[in-house]
Amino acid sequence: MSGNGIKTIALAGVGSIGAFIAEELLTAKAAGALDGVIILTRAGGSNDAVGQYAAKGARVEHVDYADESALANALRGAAAVVSTLGAAAIVNEQLALARAAKTAGVQLFVPSDFGNNNEGQTRGLLGVKATLYAKIEELELAWATFYTGLFADFGFVPCVGGRPLLLGFDFENGVVTVGGDGSVPVSFTSRRDIARFVVHALTTFPLEQLRNKFLRIEASRKNFNEIVSIYEQKHGKKLEVRYTPAEELRARLEKNPLDFFALLHHEWIEGRGAVGSPVDNGKWPEWKPTPVDEFL
Ligand SMILES: NC(=O)c1ccc[n+]([C@@H]2O[C@H](COP(=O)([O-])OP(=O)(O)OC[C@H]3O[C@@H](n4cnc5c(N)ncnc54)[C@H](OP(=O)(O)O)[C@@H]3O)[C@@H](O)[C@H]2O)c1
Repeated sequence: MSGNGIKTIALAGVGSIGAFIAEELLTAKAAGALDGVIILTRAGGSNDAVGQYAAKGARVEHVDYADESALANALRGAAAVVSTLGAAAIVNEQLALARAAKTAGVQLFVPSDFGNNNEGQTRGLLGVKATLYAKIEELELAWATFYTGLFADFGFVPCVGGRPLLLGFDFENGVVTVGGDGSVPVSFTSRRDIARFVVHALTTFPLEQLRNKFLRIEASRKNFNEIVSIYEQKHGKKLEVRYTPAEELRARLEKNPLDFFALLHHEWIEGRGAVGSPVDNGKWPEWKPTPVDEFL
């Protein structure tokens, strides 16, 4: 049931998390909770996944993020825009999208966040995400962001498309490398569960629960020592755990601010891997997300 006036939602950048949100949007449309779903993909891009969404009833728009008036035209009719643009597009393309959304009369902009609690961060990729809200507010455009923790169904995958994720979970070889002493809790939610919550929230929550709000959701909150124990019990296999001290992570980041392992594990030992409080799971009591244990 849509009681908040959001009847058409545009999604920009269908990739790792975006694909799940696209599916949920189309499910909501099929159920009558939405009138329209718009999928934005780069003109001349190579995203083969988008074809299927047109067949399922989405309006697929091929866009150039450098052409803001065409971008605004592509967003016509949308009440909300969900950005799931990847890291490379998080500044320029995402801001162009936000400006175009304002021009198109969009009421709510969901920035590409979907991870750590970045509030107050000023440095690195996570700082970029955190400072984006002020820029969106300058446009007098309302935002809603979803803090979800680590993607439970993705974070432990050793590599994607041949590219190692480098987060330190080498279960196959029985070695796990974590930051600090492994005792700081981190939130975990699967991409399917995130997509379900995001679409449910956008189509049913009153606008005042969404406008300029951080929505904090998690399926599980565990520290990495607990993750190791769960894995060991589940698989009957002992893991070797290597601990990387905070100073070593900081030294690595000084040398290379894009060192992804050091960046994330440093965020996690600083406590930003947990989504914070209060957690908003209860705003949709029927949401029963799959615990992280299932993905180990
Ligand atoms: N919490 C976690 O564990 C976790 C894990 C991964 C990602 N994330 C976060 O989730 C968000 C989305 O990440 P993702 O991994 O889903 O993204 P992604 O798959 O890397 O990229 C999503 C889409 O963005 C578009 N895109 C990529 N580069 C672009 C560029 N230079 N200009 C314009 N569009 C571009 C592409 O769509 P088209 O080709 O169709 O245009 C791409 O399919 C990010 O904020 C990321 O930090 C969180």
